[in-house]
Amino acid sequence: MDWDNLGFKVVPTKTLYVARTDENLQWQPGACVPYGPLEIHPASGALNYGQSGFEGMKAFDAAGRSVVLFRPHDNARRMQQLAERLCMPPYPVDDFVAAVLSVVNENREFIPPGDKGSLYIRPVLSGSGPVLGVGPASSYIFYVFVSPVGPYFKGGIRPIDLLVTDYHRAAPNGTGNVKAAGNYAASLKPLTGAKSAGYDEVLYLDAREDIFVEEVGAANFFAVLKSGVIVTPRHGSILPGITRDSIIRLSMEHFSWQVEERDIEIHEVLGEAAECFSTGTAAVVTPIGSITYRGARHALSDGKPGEKTMALRDRLVGIQRKKYPDPYSWVVEVPR
Ligand SMILES: Cc1ncc(COP(=O)(O)O)c(C=O)c1O
Repeated sequence: MDWDNLGFKVVPTKTLYVARTDENLQWQPGACVPYGPLEIHPASGALNYGQSGFEGMKAFDAAGRSVVLFRPHDNARRMQQLAERLCMPPYPVDDFVAAVLSVVNENREFIPPGDKGSLYIRPVLSGSGPVLGVGPASSYIFYVFVSPVGPYFKGGIRPIDLLVTDYHRAAPNGTGNVKAAGNYAASLKPLTGAKSAGYDEVLYLDAREDIFVEEVGAANFFAVLKSGVIVTPRHGSILPGITRDSIIRLSMEHFSWQVEERDIEIHEVLGEAAECFSTGTAAVVTPIGSITYRGARHALSDGKPGEKTMALRDRLVGIQRKKYPDPYSWVVEVPR
């Protein structure tokens, strides 16, 4: 492996984990199988009606001593919420974690050493069986594949430029709060449009009033106000990010900073924010350098990463890589 030139793309590995339901929708024991394409019915619920969703996690090499996961049970629980919303049989939490541990262990040789990157883990739950009228699929597949990925930032952290998009990601009582595959299909047009106009990511506003900040592409949004208070959009149609939850707890419990989960108007961000950042498994904590809204570009913290942003990032990455103590028992070792 050329560890110095990893990007964020699919790299074939040794094995993937696959489990399927029987025709009574009972999960059958799964297993790691040689990496390669899966067969799927042309009338599958996933391909025809988008009855599918996924998770995103990472395994890290902790200073060559162990391989670790971050809060895997939370990803398992979030996939159960997805299953409930899309009428799929939930995959048991303990079986989910066991599947992830076994596929990571079997593909240890693909884990980038030290801080060269991480092993990205992609659990997927899909309606694989045939269905013709709109309705739940007749059978389901749960699988987990992995791919080595490079560090999100190569050559130093760079604050990203956001464009507030006119498109909406999620409606009230829609599917924005689960990782439904269709949410991401619908995000491609705003994302590619923003990228071709020179922005790194889009910032979504809410669908009802078109005024409250929701998410940064596939990551959660935070602002550190000039008053020092940290604000982040409340649950509702946003995805309940595991990094988001970790950052809220670290802010309050480790740093003793005040955090408010609430509605945040875009005008409040543009007028009152001293720093902004996004959070997610892929980018961990990413500083935001500017937000462009209705044609006007607003620079944040002189385009440099904010102080609180970087302190939170350092603490979280330090816990994930076992450099700092883990008082919350977030880190889970992968046994051999
Ligand atoms: C829409 C969306 N928001 C937020 C996040 C961040 O969630 P997490 O921190 O659990 O990766 C993700 C990524 O999973 C996402 O797809």
